Amino acid sequence: MPTVLITGANRGIGLELARQYADAGWVVIACCRNPDDAVELAALPRNRVRMYPLDVTDHQSIEALADELADEAIDVLLNNAGIIGPVPVAENIELQHFGTIDYAVWEQVIRTNTFGPVKMAEAFLPHLLAGSEKKIVTLSSTVGSITERDTPAFAYATSKTALNKAMTLLASKLKDQGVTVAMVCPGYVKTRMDFGTADVEIPDSAKGIRSLIERLKLSDSGSFTRYNGEAIAW
Ligand SMILES: NC(=O)c1ccc[n+]([C@@H]2O[C@H](COP(=O)([O-])OP(=O)(O)OC[C@H]3O[C@@H](n4cnc5c(N)ncnc54)[C@H](OP(=O)(O)O)[C@@H]3O)[C@@H](O)[C@H]2O)c1
Repeated sequence: MPTVLITGANRGIGLELARQYADAGWVVIACCRNPDDAVELAALPRNRVRMYPLDVTDHQSIEALADELADEAIDVLLNNAGIIGPVPVAENIELQHFGTIDYAVWEQVIRTNTFGPVKMAEAFLPHLLAGSEKKIVTLSSTVGSITERDTPAFAYATSKTALNKAMTLLASKLKDQGVTVAMVCPGYVKTRMDFGTADVEIPDSAKGIRSLIERLKLSDSGSFTRYNGEAIAW
């Protein structure tokens, strides 16, 4: 059975991806900050879903988990964990608007959304090379597109723009080793990140992401695609 490692698997899109991959018979390495509190994740079939504590801003813990799983092949690394900034979003978004920017917030968002996925790729490359699919897929956002959106959330938007550039560099770097690197926008999904106007249900987003991942080929490496298959302008 193929294996997927998912970060931020305790809620939202990550939890649903863990559920759907487990239902499809995959082995799921489900990572989250506090497994003891991850009640819904813990309710998934234990024979397929293994939980591990992981904070993607803690590079030592990423390396420790990579060591712990050293003998395991991983087919798909799914960098899902991310933050939009302090929640509730509507009450805190001024911290990301020009004139009232909180630079500590910006730094934390970059550490999570940009450094986290890159560090995960660095640490888990040997596991991916031992797998058969060799795919690194990261949840990005259309908000990070320079031409499609001008959402003025400086921290979140730039964290995803920088992530996209980093992942395109990674795509070039790893192509010769047969690793496919892709960025996916899940749509505006009804999770904790919803400002109140999200229009995509969590299961539909996760289903679309899984279908995209299944279709990904090495020639798609470096692509940035919406969950429904539409290409996104950079
Ligand atoms: N929802 C949308 O409309 C939307 C749109 C575009 C892109 N995205 C992206 O989709 C991904 C999933 O978001 P979501 O909508 O499912 O949001 P969510 O419900 O807030 O879930 C985010 C997940 O990331 C985890 N996380 C945050 N910081 C972490 C850290 N330092 N280490 C490990 N895990 C961490 C959270 O864990 P805790 O429970 O411990 O906080 C949670 O499991 C994110 O990358 C997001 O940027 C979402």
